[in-house]
Amino acid sequence: MPYFLSPRVIFGKGAMKRFAAELEGKGDRAVIITDRVLKDKCSELVESLKAVGYDVKIWDEVEADPTLDIALAASRFLLDCNPQWVIGFGGGSAIDTAKAAWVLYERPDLAGGDLTKSILPKAVLNLRRKARLAAVPTTSGTGADVTWVAVLTDRAMNRKIVFAHNDIVPDLSVLETSLTLGLPKGLTASTGLDVIAHAIDGYTSRQQTDFSDGPCLQAARMAMEWLPQVCRDGSDVAAREKMLNASTIAGLGFGNSNTGLSHALGHSAGAVFHIGHGRAIGIALPYSLAFISTKPPYEGVPDPLMRLADIARFVGIDAASPRAAADALIDRIRSIQKEIGEPMSLKEAGIPEDRMNAEIDTLVKIAEKDPNMFTTPCECKGEALRDLFMKMWRGDD
Ligand SMILES: [Fe+2]
Repeated sequence: MPYFLSPRVIFGKGAMKRFAAELEGKGDRAVIITDRVLKDKCSELVESLKAVGYDVKIWDEVEADPTLDIALAASRFLLDCNPQWVIGFGGGSAIDTAKAAWVLYERPDLAGGDLTKSILPKAVLNLRRKARLAAVPTTSGTGADVTWVAVLTDRAMNRKIVFAHNDIVPDLSVLETSLTLGLPKGLTASTGLDVIAHAIDGYTSRQQTDFSDGPCLQAARMAMEWLPQVCRDGSDVAAREKMLNASTIAGLGFGNSNTGLSHALGHSAGAVFHIGHGRAIGIALPYSLAFISTKPPYEGVPDPLMRLADIARFVGIDAASPRAAADALIDRIRSIQKEIGEPMSLKEAGIPEDRMNAEIDTLVKIAEKDPNMFTTPCECKGEALRDLFMKMWRGDD
C-alpha cells in the first residue's frame, strides 16, 4: 500500500483534557458511543467537553461482537442528535460500532442497500460532511483507534460484515492511560498477546512497507518488554502506558500492512471454539511464525525468516544465524505466554480431542477463506493447514 494512514494521536499525561481542548471551537454537539459498564468511566470526558461548550449525549448499548442492528440503532441515535463529533469509547467493539454508526450517520442512504457491497476500499463515501470521528480505547489490544476497518456480525445471515475503507480511520485517537488501569489480568494478558501478533504479522506481511516496518518493530519491542510487567502488576501506570502506546503503534503498523497467518488461524479457531480474539491469536502465534519461517515466500515477498531475525535483533536477541534468531524469538514469545498464564495450545484452552477431530475440516475451510491468508507471506492451505491446526491443538514445540 503506497501510503501511510494515521489519525492525530493524543497520548501521555493529561490526554483526556487535551482531547477537549482539541475539540474546542469545532462544534457544540458530541455523542459518545460506549457500553453500559463503561458509561461511568465517561464522566471526566463528559465534563471536560461540557467545559468547552459541548452538549454531550451518551449512547450506551454497545455489545461484544457488535451486530449490524446495533450499529444501525446507534446511527439512528446520531441522526436524532446531529453531532459534529462521534466518539467511540471502549474496546474494539465500541470503537467498531462507533465507526460503523458514524458511516451510516454520514450516509444513511447506505443503510437500505447491501452493506457488504457498499463499504469497500474503492467506494466513494464522501464522509465528514456532518461529523468527525474520535476513538478513546479503554483496552490495550485492538488498535481499532487507528485502523481503517470495522467488523460487524449480521446475525440474520450468520456472516461477518466488514466495513473496510481508508476514510474510516478516525480523525483522533486519545490514549488516556488511567482508563486501562482496571482491566482484569486475563484480558490484559490476551489482548497484550494480540499486540505482539499485530506487530509481528504486520512486519512479515506481504504488504509491508518502509513506513509500516518502523511502528511494527517498535510495538513488538515495547509489548514484549512490558506485557509481563503489566500482568504482574496491573496498577503499574508506566507499564499500562507502554502497553496502551504499543497497542496503538502496532495499529499504525499493521493498519498499513495488514495482519497475516496468526490472525487467519486465530479467527478460525476463535469462531469454531468460541475463544476470545486475543487468546485465540496468542495460541496461534508461535505456530504461525514457525510455519512462515520454514516455507518459501511468494515471489518478491521479503523472506519471513530474515524478517523474524530482524525482530529478534531489535528485541535484543543475540543469535548466530537467522534461523537461530527466529527460533529464539518464537521461544521468547512462548515464555511470555507461560509467564502471563495464557494457554499454549487449543488442548490447554480446554478443547477436547474428539471436538478437535470433529471440527478440523471446518477450521481449515474457514482459515483458507480468511482475508489474512492473502497477506501471509507464503502459501498455507489444505494438508499443511490441517497439520498446523493439529500442532496448535497438541501444543508441539
Ligand atoms: Fe488481532
